[in-house]
Amino acid sequence: MPQEKDKLLDHNFDGIQEYDNPLPRWWVWLFYGSIIFSVIYFPYYHLFGGTSAREEYQMEMSAWEQKQAEQAAVAAANAPAANTSSDGVAQSIGNVDAGKQVFATNCVACHGMLGEGTIGPNLTDSFWIHGNRTEDLLRVVNEGVPDKGMVAWKAILGPQKVQDVVAYLHTLEGTNPPNPKAPEGKDYSSADTMAAVAPAALTGNADSGKQVFTTNCVACHGMLGEGTIGPNLTDNFWIHGNTDQDILQVIANGVPEKGMVAWKTVLNPKKIQDVAVYVTTLKGTNPPNPKAPEGTEYPE
Ligand code: HEC
Ligand code: HEC
Repeated sequence: MPQEKDKLLDHNFDGIQEYDNPLPRWWVWLFYGSIIFSVIYFPYYHLFGGTSAREEYQMEMSAWEQKQAEQAAVAAANAPAANTSSDGVAQSIGNVDAGKQVFATNCVACHGMLGEGTIGPNLTDSFWIHGNRTEDLLRVVNEGVPDKGMVAWKAILGPQKVQDVVAYLHTLEGTNPPNPKAPEGKDYSSADTMAAVAPAALTGNADSGKQVFTTNCVACHGMLGEGTIGPNLTDNFWIHGNTDQDILQVIANGVPEKGMVAWKTVLNPKKIQDVAVYVTTLKGTNPPNPKAPEGTEYPE
């Protein structure tokens, strides 16, 4: 403060005196300004329901979650089209393009150019004599069925080519080529697959199921099943019921329009069993930050 503004007040306490210094202008205006601001801010946000930062955040988050769920649903709808088998490891076990070459060189003589079947069975329909999981296909291609005329390819092709051709076989199912050979074996399409997926009781292994969950489900249901995009799987509220059958059913068939994947197109029946068992162990675990309940409450 410049010296000339210092004005001594006339009171005196045991020799201690006081100057009368005015507050700086800028400070005074800031003070009045904040009062005016609060008069507008307080009623708008606290009395008349203006959107708070928290609400804006939640709105942005739910828009984002919605978009994620839509994208996931689209991805889920598109992805299995290339690989309609019941087993998701198909694409990862081998190289489909290399497998196509192997098939063209070694298999078309008996299974047809497009896998439609000639001497050997049709490989494009949902009927299989020896099963349609990756392990079934690997076994039959490796070991063959010598008494029926199917060659044991293991010694001829080696492991890599066998895996490639099996990856390719997975892309054939459901391709509907012209002049298909009549179905042979057992139908592995929905009804029968469901019977395999959903026998009367849950028979899976919770530890393996936890692995399956960590790999496939946490993105939408949270690390501990507390729910993020998808519902909380640890509370007593269920949209699709809480019996073992209900849980198996919803995992296997999904709720595509809501973004829940039909896992039977990705995971084999054993993995679906395992993860269903694991989901049933989540009930009542009370993880932190649970998603709000959805669906109907089912008492213990
Ligand atoms: C010499 C003829 C012949 C050749 C070549 C041949 N297959 Fe086969 N394949 C068969 C016959 C016959 C069967 C039916 C076996 C049976 O009835 O159990 C069969 C069955 C299969 C099956 C099981 C189908 C089912 O319904 O379970 C697969 C998978 C298969 N072959 C893949 C291949 C692949 C891959 C190749 C080439 C690497 C190949 N086959 C080459 C004759 C052949
Ligand atoms: C892309 C996101 C997504 C993934 C990944 C996902 N889910 Fe879901 N899930 C959902 C959504 C969304 C719902 C709610 C469907 C509805 O509203 O009907 C749901 C519902 C469920 C339900 C029924 C819950 C109820 O309240 O009835 C179960 C059980 C379930 N999921 C299990 C799983 C399992 C197990 C996996 C992994 C193999 C998995 N989910 C992976 C999004 C997902």
